[in-house]
Amino acid sequence: MALLNVNIDHIATIRQARLTDEPDPVWAATECELAGANGITVHLRQDRRHICDRDVYLLNETVSCKFNLEMSMTESIVKIAEEIRPDQVTLVPENRQELTTEGGLNCAANKTRLAEVVKRMHKKGILVSAFIIPDKEQIDASAETGCDAIELHTGMYANAKSQKQAEKRVEELITGRDRAIEQNLVVHAGHGLTYRNIAGVASISDMCEFNIGHSIISRSVFVGIRQAAAEMIKLIDKFSK
Ligand code: PXP
Repeated sequence: MALLNVNIDHIATIRQARLTDEPDPVWAATECELAGANGITVHLRQDRRHICDRDVYLLNETVSCKFNLEMSMTESIVKIAEEIRPDQVTLVPENRQELTTEGGLNCAANKTRLAEVVKRMHKKGILVSAFIIPDKEQIDASAETGCDAIELHTGMYANAKSQKQAEKRVEELITGRDRAIEQNLVVHAGHGLTYRNIAGVASISDMCEFNIGHSIISRSVFVGIRQAAAEMIKLIDKFSK
């Protein structure tokens, strides 16, 4: 059965809109755990536009399920990960102007730095996942550099404009999953997943973990985050093999 990590970045986005102290991502994380989430994900961006250092330190102490820190390989952020030792880091590319993470990490072009970061994380007992497009070269580079897992980028699936296009994207994710399993990598997936499109990827077997943020936080505005997270867990349980 696939697991859900709730990405709570956008709880912090609301707080940062007023530079105040509410809503608190720490509270949100507890609500997600009470809903049955298996993990909490946050992205500590270099510009601290939503999640701040204070959140990462507190969440690392208070989250009792998996704490997954999404981050770039920038040295200052890598040092924070080494210090706090989250359960897992998910390595992502990061551009200052982007609205959200764009594209996957280019593992093939950054093997030396990636291998170094993986080694440093492993030294601290932290699992490493690389966020990549479902491309053989990227999957092989993730395995070669010692990553434990890959998170397959589902953005292209989420943006598909027709059923046919969506099916093609699912095929690419399945091919990527097969290659990752051959390379002994655990398979995660995320980006752009919603209550409406989760079925197509949750029904791919051996997808171990989903990272979902925007859709859950959007729904939480109307029904509360505990219910919003619980509804997504129910859908994942229904469709995953
Ligand atoms: N996975 C990764 C690597 C991401 O960068 C993001 C966005 O922060 C997500 C998953 C969650 O994406 P969404 O907010 O579209 O659910």
